[in-house]
Amino acid sequence: MKNILIATLACIAAIFGVLYFTGEQLKEPTTTAGAIETIMARRSIRQYTEQSVEREKLEVITRCGIAAPNAMNKQDWAVRVVDSKEWIDRCTKAYVETIKGTPTGDYLLTPDFRNMFRNAPAVIFVAALPSDYAGVNCGLMGENMMLAACELGLGTCCLGMPIPFLNSEQGAEFRESLDLPEGYVLQYALAVGYPAEQPEAKPRDESKIRFVE
Ligand SMILES: Cc1cc2nc3c(=O)[nH]c(=O)nc-3n(C[C@H](O)[C@H](O)[C@H](O)COP(=O)(O)O)c2cc1C
Repeated sequence: MKNILIATLACIAAIFGVLYFTGEQLKEPTTTAGAIETIMARRSIRQYTEQSVEREKLEVITRCGIAAPNAMNKQDWAVRVVDSKEWIDRCTKAYVETIKGTPTGDYLLTPDFRNMFRNAPAVIFVAALPSDYAGVNCGLMGENMMLAACELGLGTCCLGMPIPFLNSEQGAEFRESLDLPEGYVLQYALAVGYPAEQPEAKPRDESKIRFVE
């Protein structure tokens, strides 16, 4: 009888423990879309409203990012979230100086240009220690973050274009402010914000998939 009572109390404690832990991990309400639906609904978003992104959502997105599979679970990656308009605007100002009068400048500096991250109010930078698996690890992390953002009603766009600038002399101040661990290399930036466009799905070439008999 005493054993049954102890076992029952232990079960109740375990259930409360799991509920508390889950609440601590994900403070967002659970959403209803399934994984396949979210994967198929995701689009790269290149126009954002000026509405800032709630920090709670950025926390959920980045936690989903580091939940990605990664080789030997070394987690030799770093994630930096920038949602400071001042930082983004200063970085953009320095970047614009380097692209004025170039084909990139002609392409990007349209009348609706507000910042170098496709006008997004938040940016997530992903860096990694160079290794054979760094690209795969960070790619898997990126898709996790983009899908999580999509489910939270946010748009994202993976951006390679800002990286050469951040790695250059002119971008040093901004790269250094990310305070990456020694030897870590920026892989991409992820623009995050509330979408101001609903682009059509870009076509995919299904002949890339083949079953091997
Ligand atoms: C590594 C990588 C770098 C990218 N760099 C840029 C970029 O600098 N600017 C941009 O507008 N889109 C960029 N994209 C987004 C792709 O253009 C986009 O994923 C592709 O056109 C397919 O469209 P979808 O994401 O809407 O399916 C990048 C995507 C990846 C994976």
